[in-house]
Amino acid sequence: MIKRTRCGDFRDHHIDTEVRLCGWVQTNRDHGGVIFLDLRDRFGVVQVVAHPETAAAHQLAHSLRQQDVVEVIGTVIGRSDDTINTKMDTGTIEVTASQISVLNRAKTPPFPIEDDCATGEQHRLEYRYLDLRRPVMQKMLALRHRVSHAARQFLDHEAFLEIDTPILNKSTPEGARDYLVPSRVYPGSFYALPQSPQIFKQLLMIAGMDRYYQIARCFRDEDLRADRQPEFTQVDLEMSFVDQNDVMAAAEGLIAAMFAAGTGAQVGAPFTRITYAEAMDRYGLDAPDIRFGMEHVDVSDLMREVEFKVFRDPAEKGGLVKVMRVVEGASKMTRKQIDDLTAFVAVYGAKGLAWIKVNDVTDLPGGLQSPIVKFLPEGVLARLLERSGAQNGDLLFFGAGDKKVVNDALGHLRVKLGHDLGLIQPGDHRFVWVVDFPMFEWNAEEKRLQALHHPFTAPTMADLDKLERAPLEVLSQAYDLVWNGTEIGGGSIRIHDPKVQQRVFAALGISDQEAEAKFGFLVNALQYGAPPHGGLAFGLDRVVALMSGAESIRDVIAFPKTQRAADLMCDAPSEVADRQWQELGLRKRRNLATTSE
Ligand code: AMO
Ligand code: AMP
Repeated sequence: MIKRTRCGDFRDHHIDTEVRLCGWVQTNRDHGGVIFLDLRDRFGVVQVVAHPETAAAHQLAHSLRQQDVVEVIGTVIGRSDDTINTKMDTGTIEVTASQISVLNRAKTPPFPIEDDCATGEQHRLEYRYLDLRRPVMQKMLALRHRVSHAARQFLDHEAFLEIDTPILNKSTPEGARDYLVPSRVYPGSFYALPQSPQIFKQLLMIAGMDRYYQIARCFRDEDLRADRQPEFTQVDLEMSFVDQNDVMAAAEGLIAAMFAAGTGAQVGAPFTRITYAEAMDRYGLDAPDIRFGMEHVDVSDLMREVEFKVFRDPAEKGGLVKVMRVVEGASKMTRKQIDDLTAFVAVYGAKGLAWIKVNDVTDLPGGLQSPIVKFLPEGVLARLLERSGAQNGDLLFFGAGDKKVVNDALGHLRVKLGHDLGLIQPGDHRFVWVVDFPMFEWNAEEKRLQALHHPFTAPTMADLDKLERAPLEVLSQAYDLVWNGTEIGGGSIRIHDPKVQQRVFAALGISDQEAEAKFGFLVNALQYGAPPHGGLAFGLDRVVALMSGAESIRDVIAFPKTQRAADLMCDAPSEVADRQWQELGLRKRRNLATTSE
């Protein structure tokens, strides 16, 4: 049999040769006797011509419908100049069919198998195998393949060993809820699916593997967003005898390799670094988008002396007052636009969004238009303009209140305005490391400290003595990599001293018994000669989504779940047979309601 040529591979050098090709019928046009078929496979589209002289092939071509699967044997012909199609890679040739056979017929698909198909995502997910037949989706998965392949090549070259870790696990604390799997053999006991391979990769360092990596599936039962899936993939790595700079350098090399494979472009490593504290000050978020300005300015100190309670109270009582300058021309924003932005920040808990339109900086207060100017003394206004660098035509927005609320509200407002006002250059890619995270944060609801990363992250050595005395002041050796405002990876140097690990558990309110029950094996292992070690994990789905410009990570995952964690195609999760309940030693509660979350 003639070797198959892939539809997208046809070029001039095939002219006058006999070929065999297989694919799906994309279009079927009858031009008064001659039938033109566009045949598509993963590699592209080629035109096949069936002439009435080859009666059997012609007759069959006539019967073909979109998405039928066919095999064609024919001869490649060069097209005349006036029929060359410059939009097709194969546009200089066509295949004259001598024989066509149907490999399979297709029902009419529920939506057009084309790149710009207007069908809703729900419908596409229900028929994902057809959705994935669209060239745009095939390109996404091919891109993902190239990127993960490049990661493997890079890490292999750097002496990392690819090692699989278990899926049926004991719980690993990454801060999300676990997916649990009941055990049949031990009724009433459960495995947890890994939120990450964190503990195992540390154990691999203790085992002397020196450098580990894994393209690892992780499971987290948390509220979903466009950049979160319940089941996602990490490029996960761990290294022995390293410090923070070593891991960050390896991670930069890895991202550069993935970026080059995915986009053909180079990234400018080493990346900028900013501390967590600086990120919060300047951008209000720990994953700052540094492609544009509009940085925040803390004006709490100025507001201690004003009458306006909305500003004075937080300034005096440990809250925060920040101003954000929206540049030139923004003062033309309408009341309706400002009201919409006020509603936007309300979602983050902001009680309002005070503003000043700067018409003339030389005229105070007359040159300022605002509902709050009358509450602010001229001296404060002057210093405000100076601090914020305001110019005529600018608009100043204010956030006042609880630190977290103000940072969240103005942080997200900044990102929204950056997009809405077109401040982002297309094709601009900025990476930034955020370093010096606090070890702990205060969980007000549960009235306890919790780890900002995870409890195995090493504190900064200089802060060790504050672990008990002032835990909230302790910084950690953790780092996140942020790409255009999305956290794509994070990691840390780990604790390798069992005594420090115990002190951190204690600070987190994890008792010795609880630590023993949950992570006894790790604490134990740390006592048998654990090397200093650290690592990091990238979210592969996020990296590929950012490279491809996809709006959601669902577009770069072959079979993703919906925002409600369901698989619409195979209808998972689904009920199981009574026999399975029994085998697992489980009993159904009456009135079992689905949670509304
Ligand atoms: P972390 O929890 O920060 O760290 O996760 C690392 C990266 O994984 C990606 N990610 C996700 N992607 C899609 N859907 C999700 N639900 C999701 N959750 C996380 C993000 C994130 O930056 N064990 C540590 C790493 C380490 O310390 O080495 C960990 O899992 O891109
Ligand atoms: P009020 O005195 O509540 O009418 O508020 C006067 C102005 O301050 C309005 O523009 C409000 O949007 C704004 N404002 C109220 N609370 C806050 C806040 N916590 N942060 C920023 N602006 C606020």
